Amino acid sequence: MEHVLGGNRQELQNKAEAVKNLYAGFVVPSYKRSLVLSHGQGMYVWDADGKRYLDMGGGIAVNSLGHSNPRIAETLAQQAGKLVHVSNLYYNEQQAILAQRLVSHLAPGKMFFCNSGAEANECQYKLARKVGNPKGRFEIVTALNSFHGRTLAGIAATGQDKVRVGFEPTVSGFRHVPYNNLEAVRAAITEQTAAVLIEGIQGEGGVTAATPEYLVGLRKLTREHGILLLWDGVQCGYFRTGRFQSFQRILEDSAISGAQEFLPDAVAMAKSIGGGFPMGAVWIRDEFADVFQPGSHGTTYGGTPLACAVANCVLDEIEEKRLDENIRKQGEYLISRLASLVGSRGINAVRGMGGIVGLALESDAAEAATKLTQAGLLLVPATGNVLRFLPPLNMGKAHVDEALEIIEKTL
Ligand SMILES: Cc1ncc(COP(=O)(O)O)c(C=O)c1O
Repeated sequence: MEHVLGGNRQELQNKAEAVKNLYAGFVVPSYKRSLVLSHGQGMYVWDADGKRYLDMGGGIAVNSLGHSNPRIAETLAQQAGKLVHVSNLYYNEQQAILAQRLVSHLAPGKMFFCNSGAEANECQYKLARKVGNPKGRFEIVTALNSFHGRTLAGIAATGQDKVRVGFEPTVSGFRHVPYNNLEAVRAAITEQTAAVLIEGIQGEGGVTAATPEYLVGLRKLTREHGILLLWDGVQCGYFRTGRFQSFQRILEDSAISGAQEFLPDAVAMAKSIGGGFPMGAVWIRDEFADVFQPGSHGTTYGGTPLACAVANCVLDEIEEKRLDENIRKQGEYLISRLASLVGSRGINAVRGMGGIVGLALESDAAEAATKLTQAGLLLVPATGNVLRFLPPLNMGKAHVDEALEIIEKTL
């Protein structure tokens, strides 16, 4: 494969050092970075030295079709030659088509398009306030250990103190309670509460799934109080569990009364929806779908023809190749292989479903991730000594076998 950075080994190493030096001089050091990557193909990326890595982190649940997907490349080029951006003062066909398709995967409602997960959640906070304000309601109850993004409201919503340190005063109107604890939510609801917001599977928090009882109980509770149930499907959603949204997977076999009718009032999406092209979206249930009238909410780049064309192409690929079924199957295989290692190699537990899988370690996950990177496998550390697998939805069995071989050799 042609080397994008180009040159012999020494030249490549010099170029990688030069890239790092440019970062040191000119890029805000808000991330801890490791490799200098030059290019990718499918499940693999190559660093500046030409070394290949199996990417099971998938750009943190973003690269739903893997790297350099030819269909995405072609769509990008074709749409770029037609219409890249028009403001939301105008209609564009790609946005209209995508909206209809996304709604068809949930239930009657409408879509709002934006650019990231944090922004999709911002839309949910504003929805809760817009609906709640006439009744004096504004507060949002969220879960401890959750993650909802890095904006000021996002870190206020996030149930982890570490993201707020140094950014006080925290945006008011958020309250945190233990996850999977219905009574804690019940106790936290007051006359000021406007909504409850949860992730179906806490990703950054260490891959912990909501229980069916919790979900059904939350829906009942929020209905009783006339408040919204908001859903953060940014990481666990978009077919990653084998269903469009994780609640559909978590509840699919549940016989609990109300499980099959479960539906939040809004669902935030981002990451996998654009397959690497920045995009966010929010589905709003029909009852609240017209709450945002002109002038109440917006974003310049929300739902551009280019972003929506790519998202439509990603959705085509998922639907045509049944990548939802694929990731469910490969995820089961990955979990079964990892489960056989539990109790050895410092591995305490494996949890998750489909393409969101966590490996709970006895010791620091970041250290383990570094060792695995050196051995050629990319994973993503999470809170609580957990290593996350968030691979592309088109991952194959051979990739799971390769990952396991590296883990068995390295840990
Ligand atoms: C559950 C969840 N919500 C929101 C976000 C924020 O998304 P973004 O980084 O696109 O703003 C993330 C990012 O990791 C996430 O995992």
